[in-house]
Amino acid sequence: MRTSAFRREKTSEFVISCVADNGHTSWRSRISVAPTLQDLIRFLLFRFEPETSHRLVLGLLRRASEHRVLLRLLQPPAAITKAPLAVRIMGLTFPNPLGLAAGFDKNATAIPAFAAMGFGYLELGTVTPRPQHGNPKPRLFRLNEDRAIVNRMGFNSVGLDRFLANLRNAPGSVPLGINIGKNADTPLAQAEADYLHGLSRVYASADYVTVNVSSPNTPALRELQEGRRLHDLLQALKQRQSELSRQHGRYVPLALKIAPDLSEPELDQITDNVLRHRVDAVIATNTTLQRPASLRSRHASQTGGLSGRPLKSLSTDTVARLANRLGGEVPIIGVGGIEDDDDAWDKLMAGAVLLQIYTGIIFQGPALVGKVLKGIQRRMEKMQLSDLADAIRHARQTSDYGNRG
Ligand SMILES: Cc1cc2nc3c(=O)[nH]c(=O)nc-3n(C[C@H](O)[C@H](O)[C@H](O)COP(=O)(O)O)c2cc1C
Repeated sequence: MRTSAFRREKTSEFVISCVADNGHTSWRSRISVAPTLQDLIRFLLFRFEPETSHRLVLGLLRRASEHRVLLRLLQPPAAITKAPLAVRIMGLTFPNPLGLAAGFDKNATAIPAFAAMGFGYLELGTVTPRPQHGNPKPRLFRLNEDRAIVNRMGFNSVGLDRFLANLRNAPGSVPLGINIGKNADTPLAQAEADYLHGLSRVYASADYVTVNVSSPNTPALRELQEGRRLHDLLQALKQRQSELSRQHGRYVPLALKIAPDLSEPELDQITDNVLRHRVDAVIATNTTLQRPASLRSRHASQTGGLSGRPLKSLSTDTVARLANRLGGEVPIIGVGGIEDDDDAWDKLMAGAVLLQIYTGIIFQGPALVGKVLKGIQRRMEKMQLSDLADAIRHARQTSDYGNRG
């Protein structure tokens, strides 16, 4: 056996081949010695203040959205985008179950770029009726050691007029959810008017509309999740939805996004209202106000909502508690701390049928989308099932979460 030979293949990869005495290569191995382009981009972006990085990324994605060649750079391999992962719920067909969570593209400025990443759908917003700046800066904190974020953005929004103008310029290739909220200076007693206005304005442009009553960064907003208040709000919204549906000749489903910090009685009230008013889906969850003892970052005590890894089990638990109560009558969209396909699968096993990610993309970049979808696809292949709904049903029957329901 002769000494190994090194050959540079790409800028970041070397191939080591070990050549036997008779001249035949007996084995070869490919090693990566340099950071990937994504690692490098992340390294550079993490030098900036989090909100500056976010603005830079969105600016780049907005530009990429205008160039087909650049969009191609964002795409996962075709084998993943063409995989049979379609989900049919709320009367809609989603090409795959993984969506972009609300808050990333609040103003609908980079839709083609996010769609190119392989997401099965995008939730845009939260959009408020009138433009507003949100809370004073700094208001976004990266908790690197905890793979988490704390934000107290407070619905910074360009408002409905500009949001809808942005949306009109974006060719839609995947279903679009639009997440609506209220302005910070609208008193809680008049919140209903803001939501009704939001629903009426976005109705024609949305595949589904999310009613966000769970952001912790708009004073008292979460009180709208409470029994009587939620009842009144949902009744008004469902009534308006039915009028709009007649007017537009198209039914646009309504989803309710809830917090992960709900007691059992609070969750009971929510599910009673969801069932009673026939809400089309529940999104669980928004960020948490809790601060698990495991947090190590110096930003852990910043005021705001915590997302990412420390939110994962809290949100998956909320999905499972919801699933027990809703008994399959209303679809659940699971979001909170998804970092890989295991986390995604846990949420599906807990009762979710669609998923969303935000913080995972900040730490791992767009490749995470392909990684998660590939993992789901691998599981389906192992079960020899080609329909995702069948695979989920089959796997739930043998999982802990599945046995709870
Ligand atoms: C910076 C930031 C801004 C957010 N803005 C919104 C928002 O405007 N509306 C909303 O419903 N959720 C918002 N969220 C919550 C996310 O949509 C998601 O529910 C939450 O972050 C949990 O998912 P993750 O752990 O994958 O990030 C925001 C999250 C972050 C980190």
